[in-house]
Amino acid sequence: MCGIVAYVGHREAAPLIIKGLKRLEYRGYDSAGIALLDENQLNIYKKKGKVAELENILKDKKLHAKTGIGHTRWATHGEPNDVNAHPHYSHSETLAIIHNGIIENYAAIKQVLINKGYTFESATDTEVLIKFIEDIKKHNACSTEEAVRLALNEVVGAYAIVIIDEENPDQLIAARKGSPLVIGIGENEYFFASDATPIIEYTKEVVYLDDFEIAVVKNGKLNIRNLQNQEKDAFIETIELELEAIEKGGYEHFMLKEIFEQPRSIADCLRGRISSENAHIQLGGISNHLEKLSKAKRIVFVACGTSWHAGLVGEYLFEELARINVEVEYASEFRYRNPIIKEGDFVIAISQSGETADTLAALELAKSRGATILGICNVVGSSIARLTDAGVYTHAGPEIGVASTKAFTAQVTVLALMAIATAHSKGTINEDEYRRLIIELESIPDKVADILTQAEEIKDISKLFTFASNFIFLGRGVNFPVALEGALKLKEISYIHAEGYPAAEMKHGPIALIDEDMPVVFIATKDSSYEKVVSNIQEVKARKGRVIAVVSKGDKDIKGMVDFAIEVPMAHEMLQPLLTVIPLQLLSYYIAVLRGRNVDQPRNLAKSVTVE
Ligand code: F6R
Repeated sequence: MCGIVAYVGHREAAPLIIKGLKRLEYRGYDSAGIALLDENQLNIYKKKGKVAELENILKDKKLHAKTGIGHTRWATHGEPNDVNAHPHYSHSETLAIIHNGIIENYAAIKQVLINKGYTFESATDTEVLIKFIEDIKKHNACSTEEAVRLALNEVVGAYAIVIIDEENPDQLIAARKGSPLVIGIGENEYFFASDATPIIEYTKEVVYLDDFEIAVVKNGKLNIRNLQNQEKDAFIETIELELEAIEKGGYEHFMLKEIFEQPRSIADCLRGRISSENAHIQLGGISNHLEKLSKAKRIVFVACGTSWHAGLVGEYLFEELARINVEVEYASEFRYRNPIIKEGDFVIAISQSGETADTLAALELAKSRGATILGICNVVGSSIARLTDAGVYTHAGPEIGVASTKAFTAQVTVLALMAIATAHSKGTINEDEYRRLIIELESIPDKVADILTQAEEIKDISKLFTFASNFIFLGRGVNFPVALEGALKLKEISYIHAEGYPAAEMKHGPIALIDEDMPVVFIATKDSSYEKVVSNIQEVKARKGRVIAVVSKGDKDIKGMVDFAIEVPMAHEMLQPLLTVIPLQLLSYYIAVLRGRNVDQPRNLAKSVTVE
C-alpha cells in the first residue's frame, strides 16, 4: 500500500526520492507525488499513474532541493486522481504532508475546520490532517512539531506521516501509529521510508519508529518523543538487506525470480535450524516457549490471503504430528468476533510483511485477552515481529512481486519446523520419525529445484489455457490449502476466475460447472487420499472437463487418465505442499504473462495491506 520516501541532507532530494518511490512501486499504488523545498519555496508536483509519469513532469525543471518528501498513494478516501494524490498543502501552503493509513475521525475534524472557514480541494483525510495541524499551530502560537504532537493526540486511526515546513528548510517531522516508518541514518543526512528498500543503498543504520512516536530531524540531529512529549532513545539497528535482493537479477519479473529463488529461500529458512547429523531442530526465536507450546490446549493461526493458506497447512502439520487442536482464522474475522481465548492458548500470526493491519489487530486482541502470541514473519523488524512475545523469521529475503510465492513456501517450512520440534518435545513422534522428518525437510530444496526444471513444459501447458475464463483447483488433505493457493495465484495475477475446493466437495455443487470448457487442476500425489482423488478425476473426465494433474514422479496411472500431468518428486505427505505448490505458481505466472498482465503489480492489489 501507500509508500513514503523523504530526505533531508546534502544530496539532490528529487532524484533520490523518485528512485526510492520506484523501489516502493511493488507495494501497489495509483498516483505519485513529491514536495520539494527549493530556494526556500515549497513546491508540490503530483500525478495520477506511475512514478515514471511524475518523473516526466520533473524532467525539465531545474531542481536543487536538499529536502523533500515523496509518496505513492493507494486510494482509500477519494478516487485516484491528481488532486487526491499526496503531498497535500496546509492552508498557508507553507507545510506539506504525506500520509499512509486512515484518519478515522477525519469527518468530524473537517466539519470543525469548515465551520472556521477552511476549504478543501481533495476528498482525502490527509488534507484535513495538515490543515488541522496548521490551525493548532496558529491558535497555540507554537512550533510545527508541537502542533503535530497536539493534533495527533486528537486523531483516531492509523498513520505514518512526514511533514515538510517551508519555514524550517532543514527539518522533517515524522510520526507513526499502526503504519510502518523506517528512518535511515547517514552522514549528516536522514532518510524516511515505509520500508528499508529505498534506504539500503545509502545506509544500513536504521531506526524503526514505534507507535505514538514523533521523530524530528533538525540541524542534522534526530530527536524522538512520544505523544506525551517524553524523550525516547533512538534505537539504531543495522539491516542486513543487500541491494541485489531487491533487483530483478536478469529475470523478466520479480515473481519469476522469486519462484526460482525457492530452493535457496527454503534452504535459507532451514539454515542453522536443522541438522540431520545430530537429528536436531533448533528454533532460537521460540526455544523458551517450546515446552509451553507442546502443552498448548489450542493453537490459533491468524492471517490473511496466502499466509492464511500457509496457516491451513500448519493445521494439518500440528494436528497430525503434535496432536494439538488447531484453528485457522481470517484475522479480519477473528478480531471482530469476540473470540474465546483460554489460558494455555497460543495465537500465532503468519505474515510476510508483518504489517497487515487485520493480522496486527487480531494479535493485539489476543494479547489483551492473555494468549501467548507468536509470529511467523518475513520482514525483520516489522510491526508484528515487534509485538509478539517470540517468533520465527522465515528468512525468505525481500518479496517484491505482489503475488506471494517464496514467502508461502518459507512460511510452510517454518510451520513444519515448529510442528516437528513441538511433536518431538511432546513425544507424539518417536526419535526415528523425528530423524526421518528432518532428513525429508533437508531434501526439499533439491526437490523444488527438480520441479523448476519443468518450467518450459509448464509454459507450454499454460499456452493452451491462456483464454480460459474459469478454473477449478482441487486437492485433499494437506494439499487442499494448496488448491486454494493455486486458485488465488491464478485469479490475482491473470484475472481469471478461479475456485479452490477440497476434491470431495466437488459433488456437493461445483461439479455442475464441469464441461469441456472447464479446466480443472488436481493435486493428485501418492498419499493417503490418492485413491479418492483418482475417483474425483474420473468424475471430471466423465463430464469432459480438461484436467491438469500434479502427480508423483513415475505415476503412469493418472498420466493415462488426464490431459496434462506435471510430476513432483516423492516426499513425506506432510511436506508435500512445499512441492505441489510450485507447478501452480508457474502455471499462474505463464498464463498471466501470456494474457499480457502486469504480473508484479496486478491491478487493485497492494503488497502490504496496512488498512483494514
Ligand atoms: C497473495 C498475497 C496476499 C497476502 C496477504 C497477507 O499472493 O500476497 O494474499 O498473502 O495480503 O499479507 P501478509 O502475509 O503480508 O500479512
